[in-house]
Amino acid sequence: MRRLCYMVRNHLGRSILSVCRLISHPSEFFSEARQMLEAARHTNLRKLQALFACLCIFSVFSFVLVYYLAYHGCDSHVLVSVTCDWVITSMIKHEMVDLRIPVSSTAMIDCEPLFNRDAGLMGQIKSYMMSNHKRAATPYFYIKATENCQIFRKEMGYNGMATLSTQEEKDFPLAFSIMTYKDIEQVERLLRMLYRPQNYYCIHVDMKSSYTFYRALLGIASCFSNVFVASKRVDVAWGEYTVLEGDLVCMRDLLTYTKWKYIINLTGQEFPLKTNAEMVKILKVFNGANNLEATVRKRDMSRINYHYDGIERTTVRKSPPPHNITAVKGSVHILASRGYVDYIINSKIANDFLEWVKDTGYPDETFFSTMNHNPHLKVPGSYLGEPETNPKIYPFLARYKLWRYERDSWRCGGYWQRSICVYGLSDLRHLISRKEFFANKFELDYEYVAFDCMEEYIFNLAREHRYRPQKINISYYENLPFYKNVIL
Ligand SMILES: *[C@@H]1O[C@H](CO)[C@@H](O)[C@H](O)[C@H]1NC(C)=O
Ligand SMILES: *[C@@H]1O[C@H](CO)[C@@H](O)[C@H](O)[C@H]1NC(C)=O
Ligand SMILES: *[C@@H]1O[C@H](CO)[C@@H](O)[C@H](O)[C@H]1NC(C)=O
Repeated sequence: MRRLCYMVRNHLGRSILSVCRLISHPSEFFSEARQMLEAARHTNLRKLQALFACLCIFSVFSFVLVYYLAYHGCDSHVLVSVTCDWVITSMIKHEMVDLRIPVSSTAMIDCEPLFNRDAGLMGQIKSYMMSNHKRAATPYFYIKATENCQIFRKEMGYNGMATLSTQEEKDFPLAFSIMTYKDIEQVERLLRMLYRPQNYYCIHVDMKSSYTFYRALLGIASCFSNVFVASKRVDVAWGEYTVLEGDLVCMRDLLTYTKWKYIINLTGQEFPLKTNAEMVKILKVFNGANNLEATVRKRDMSRINYHYDGIERTTVRKSPPPHNITAVKGSVHILASRGYVDYIINSKIANDFLEWVKDTGYPDETFFSTMNHNPHLKVPGSYLGEPETNPKIYPFLARYKLWRYERDSWRCGGYWQRSICVYGLSDLRHLISRKEFFANKFELDYEYVAFDCMEEYIFNLAREHRYRPQKINISYYENLPFYKNVIL
């Protein structure tokens, strides 16, 4: 027996193996060395192949990315934020994108006659709008503008809005959740109209929204301590559980702020019909009562008797709701007390019911309303009377919304979008006479002067209420019977 050592070198001459063996015959040594050499060559080749493949994949990926960015910018939702942030910043820096400041048309147009339905002027303005389409501000504008928050707040009028609260309003903060997916300028103007330093605002951005839209809202939120973007983005699909989920994310986030008394949830297409001062006075009268739409008589039983797969009904029957709950149909709009929100988010019963409602049809229209109309659950602010919206006894005040196939559909002066009226110029006069808190809905690029004039109207009213709060007339609300008939 002898001890022999050998070295295996790769094709570049670098030694990669050194082996010592006890062998009985030299030929054994050489055959083993040859085998080792073969094996080493083989692994080297494989490494090279792998490296090559990696390079290939990487370059294809980079090519696709560059191609994608070139054609879609970051206006799509699939891209990773780091890449997009870089792309967006350079596009803004080189002014490759539309950075126009939004302007309101009311600087040139007198709104007063429009609220009085001056037909001649309305015609003129309609034809003016036909030839001067609305060019809304882009997310890029907001991303750039919010780089300097101090200037943003000043120039966009937030500092002015911040001075509009009376002491009564300051002592009664509200919370708003806003579900958004498009039209940054409209969303921002809604936020601005509602903005008061004592309130809280949670903005949920749909997963389907573009990254630039999301970035713009992050920018806006970064300029205020009481405005934030929901901690989770949900891919909201109309009619499905996800509608509910987006709101619940905001509610949970908002509950971490302790001061607010009531929550109002909105979409980016809505606009207030009342000032913050009015809302506060009315909600103080309601004293903890919630206001949600409800019906048991007109509910569609098949939506709750069968399992749904998304918005498709299956043939599988569902068991009745847990905890002896009666399912009540309502709408997605709520005006609810803090206690209600706390119950919805934190109680076991609400969570059990949420599980049950998930695979029913249009669960968002059942969940909130049901929670408000099953008094045996003792949900704070819930209604003890008959769960039927009724204009005299139990009106639905959160939202004014016109449906195509309902009695007062003739009132719609705009156009129908998925059976809901999009308001136009000729709706202004009626809108400001409504008792509801918000109107649903507006599209900024449709008869945009209507939106501009609503904005001007509510702003002027808010300024008046700031200095003459005693002039706010809430006798209609004080005389409603429903708020005296609730669980407190
Ligand atoms: C369930 O609710 C109904 C009325 O909603 C009531 O009559 C009945 O006693 C309740 N049952 C239980 C077990 O609580
Ligand atoms: C309002 O909130 C309810 C519950 O949080 C939700 O289902 C609904 O989608 C929200 N509506 C809007 C308009 O955001
Ligand atoms: C307040 O509004 C009610 C109707 O909502 C009206 O009847 C009453 O006259 C108003 N009061 C004042 C002082 O304007």
